Amino acid sequence: MRIDIITLLPQLLESPFADSILQRAITKGLVEVHLHDLREYGQGKHRKLDDYQFGGGAGLVMMAEPIFQCIEKLKEERTYDEIIYMTPDGDLFNQKTANQLSLKDNLLILCGHYKGIDQRVRDELITKEISIGDYVLSGGELGAAVVSDAVIRLLPGVLNDESSALTDSFQDDLLAPPVYTRPADFRGLKVPEVLTSGNFPAIEKWRQEQAYLRTAERRPDLLEDK
Ligand code: ADE
Repeated sequence: MRIDIITLLPQLLESPFADSILQRAITKGLVEVHLHDLREYGQGKHRKLDDYQFGGGAGLVMMAEPIFQCIEKLKEERTYDEIIYMTPDGDLFNQKTANQLSLKDNLLILCGHYKGIDQRVRDELITKEISIGDYVLSGGELGAAVVSDAVIRLLPGVLNDESSALTDSFQDDLLAPPVYTRPADFRGLKVPEVLTSGNFPAIEKWRQEQAYLRTAERRPDLLEDK
């Protein structure tokens, strides 16, 4: 997989890909992540990227021309399966979307800023609009990092134990059950006995029950369609 990210703040996106699982996925050649500085496509001496909105109103809007130029250049080099715009009025991101995106070869993610981008970019170039939650961030960069992380960890070979992505919360519309590690007795707080019993069918049953209970308690909305 290849992910291209268009941003005004490439330095903000460097660290999420420079450590741990994502960095290992890149080193192993399982994913390529390329950051593109939109400023390079800015207009004039000051490399201008934004302007006042027509009709009045507070806040600057990112202009169509630099974004068109940048995306058109990238599209000449490869075909993108999705051109995603990170925006608080997009579709709410969830595990299902992460799963779908993880099956694609080339993703392009555009990070917005200010009051957003000229609507003509959205109408003409964007194929998918994603929000990571009902709150407004200063820009799309953190959202792009969230989406990339959720997608990359699903790629085959990224996680050491492949089954661990399958047992994540949300993979079966249930939250994950509680987990414990050694010691079995920590300051008198004991691990549920079944987990140390070696009885694997019983352990599996306990995990499923706990996942269900936790979901019913914390996210009953996830059980509504079940
Ligand atoms: N940009 C600003 N706020 C955002 C959000 N909630 N999700 C995605 N991109 C954003």
